[in-house]
Amino acid sequence: MPQLQTTNHKLQTIEKKEIVMSGIRPTGFLHLGNYFGAIRNYVKMQDEYECFFMVADLHSLTTHPDTKLLKANVHRVLAENIACGLDPDKVALYCQSHVYETAELYLYLNMLAYKGELEKTATFKEKIRLQPDNANAGLLTYPVLQTADILLHRAKYVPVGKDQEQHLEMARNFANRFNHRYGDVFPEPVAFNYSNNLVKVPSLDGEGKMSKSENQLATLYLADDDDLIRKKVMKAKTDSGPTENNSVKPEYIDNIFLLMSLVSSSDITKKYEDDYNSCNIRYGDLKKQLAEDMIKFISPIRKKVNRILEDEKYLQKVLLQGAEKARKSSEATIKIVRQAMGLNYF
Ligand code: TRP
Repeated sequence: MPQLQTTNHKLQTIEKKEIVMSGIRPTGFLHLGNYFGAIRNYVKMQDEYECFFMVADLHSLTTHPDTKLLKANVHRVLAENIACGLDPDKVALYCQSHVYETAELYLYLNMLAYKGELEKTATFKEKIRLQPDNANAGLLTYPVLQTADILLHRAKYVPVGKDQEQHLEMARNFANRFNHRYGDVFPEPVAFNYSNNLVKVPSLDGEGKMSKSENQLATLYLADDDDLIRKKVMKAKTDSGPTENNSVKPEYIDNIFLLMSLVSSSDITKKYEDDYNSCNIRYGDLKKQLAEDMIKFISPIRKKVNRILEDEKYLQKVLLQGAEKARKSSEATIKIVRQAMGLNYF
């Protein structure tokens, strides 16, 4: 929406970009599924939108109260995202705990969130099942904290996967409840992705998609070295091959072709498609080719991640720069929030 602003008595039209916000949990290494399902989307958005990408270190306390590895994990997530093309000069790339306004908005929103709806949240139920001895209140109010992250920048678009849809619906409810009670402050945040760009990267064992928690040997991480990539790809499930021309591929074979289409050139993929359709396919060759192309794709990223991780000064600069941008936007919002709530005494 074009906006009018006066600078030096001159009227200037400034294109104000729409606001995108998302959070990344600093737990575990990023894998190919994260790359094609999320990061590639972020990278595409950074030129078109005003983007806030946040490492959710506070959220991680709900499941990982031991903070010994926290800083290293935050650094890794930053390095991995930057190595994949996220540009800290274009976006606000920051750490949740550096934005103190988060805690304040979280507190206000907690008064608008009901015990019943929080207890019904699927991720809450799943997490207390996994850690019955630590069913803490932070887990219960996890969606409230996530809402604070989003609303602090009055973001409209939130690029997230399917697993976060319920949290976003709750964020919309909390935003609307706030607006209803205290006045129109927040836009309704909606999930947003470039629809045809979201690839579900299948796991190498032919079942489900690549995931941090499930079969690690069936998931390709951006940190895997060349030999490990080879080993994982060569272990992918195949069979003795088709016996009739142009037969339908079983899912585990289809998955291998899908992976190939992500990292190999189209003529290579086509060659193997043709081999399959004419029953001349040699799965050993197919997997060797896939492994080498996968290495060509992953190893430059891995090397870049390692270079960034060695440069602590650079990482600190990134964090500081991100915190400044995120705080500027949060401070502006929290002022409006206090005003709207009548918490302005002076
Ligand atoms: N809950 C999100 C996840 O599990 C991470 C997250 C935290 C987030 N704050 C957010 C996502 C704000 C989108 C917007 O992946």
